[in-house]
Amino acid sequence: MVNRREVLASKLLLVAGALMPAPAMADVEAATVSAGKMKELSDNILAYKFEYPVATVSGKPLSMLLSRTPEKYSSAAPLTADARQRIVSEVFDFRTFVTASMNVGPASGVLKGRNPAEWKPREVALTVLVDRSTARTTAGQRVALNDVQEAHLETRDGLQYWVYEHISQGSPTITTRTRESYRHSLAVTSWRPAMDGTPYLYTLNLSCPEDLWPDLEPLFRRSAESFTLLPTTRDYIPPDKDPWLFF
Ligand SMILES: *[C@@H]1O[C@H](CO)[C@@H](O)[C@H](O)[C@H]1NC(C)=O
Repeated sequence: MVNRREVLASKLLLVAGALMPAPAMADVEAATVSAGKMKELSDNILAYKFEYPVATVSGKPLSMLLSRTPEKYSSAAPLTADARQRIVSEVFDFRTFVTASMNVGPASGVLKGRNPAEWKPREVALTVLVDRSTARTTAGQRVALNDVQEAHLETRDGLQYWVYEHISQGSPTITTRTRESYRHSLAVTSWRPAMDGTPYLYTLNLSCPEDLWPDLEPLFRRSAESFTLLPTTRDYIPPDKDPWLFF
């Protein structure tokens, strides 16, 4: 018996074959899984784009609302106590607590002053995560235990993207604090030099409650692959331009 996915895949190959070389089998499968389930967010101000899921793999719809409209670094909400990492855009489903957010901030900690070519995947992951958990301690909340499951580097179009999967306990976005909540996240961090030439980290973070993870992981992976730092245009506002001008 031929399964449906194979039939569909061969149809796609037929259509695609007329115009372009056949895509790799894995790409066709990924396209089948994510068909109609992704939307794109693209921002010219900080010059990036990414796709995010609007349904789960099994077809449960997500109402991903733009909870933070893309904005420049200087007017974005601080994410950490020292206000280095800021949320520059976010889409969020208030019912399922699925979120996709972009954080931007200068390279700090062990990354600071080193050549990004030498940054190790785990170092990047922990630096971004530590920056976040500091904020919680200061706010009097329990320090989030972030457990990095896996981290690796992908190079696309000459740019570095560090991809890391992590689990965290508790979250300020969860309003029901009655039961212990675990969140499973997939993040991807890249960098671009700011006006002064120092690297700024751009992090896309896809996150959901642990029980939704199996139904979202393939789509989160696709989001992570879709994250791209775009060539800057005249709309680009470097993050270190007037960093304290809130308006
Ligand atoms: C991703 O979001 C989750 C939930 O808010 C958080 O616990 C985690 O620290 C975030 N990860 C990164 C890399 O920002």
